[in-house]
Amino acid sequence: MNDSVSASTIAFRVNGQSHEVKAYPMARLLDVLREDLRLTGTKEGCGEGECGACSVLMNGEIVDSCLIPVAQAHGSDITTIEGIASDPLNQKLIDTFVEEGGIQCGICTPGMMVAIVNLLKTATPSTLSDEQIRSGLAGNLCRCTGYAKIIEAVRKTVS
Ligand code: FES
Ligand code: FES
Repeated sequence: MNDSVSASTIAFRVNGQSHEVKAYPMARLLDVLREDLRLTGTKEGCGEGECGACSVLMNGEIVDSCLIPVAQAHGSDITTIEGIASDPLNQKLIDTFVEEGGIQCGICTPGMMVAIVNLLKTATPSTLSDEQIRSGLAGNLCRCTGYAKIIEAVRKTVS
């Protein structure tokens, strides 16, 4: 660690609550969420911005929290999987994912849920094509299920 870089106070809102944490500016948002705030629902997959397992919303946009220096999150509004856990849409998605086999190892699931809930809230769910669902989930990789089961679960959720 470079001694010339000191920890800063980062203030942001996470799941509707104000937080201040002391962190190095280049610390990953993913680590601050998991280790400082103990919000361990957000997962690390690749750690390189490729898989989407670490997806959270930052000011309403999906981001890979493994790529975001926490200084960039200063003053922002973050939503993690914990923030949507009691959302009825998320509850329904969990049921349909289980029914359709869209969850296996589960590493991709929290990031996938954040992306899907965001997609369904920013689109007209009843008119979403499979192509639009695929495109909305393009940043979220799943090594286990094959995407057909996930698309089917999303389709069933909105039908
Ligand atoms: Fe962040 Fe894979 S862990 S994109
Ligand atoms: Fe294992 Fe998606 S369920 S990576």
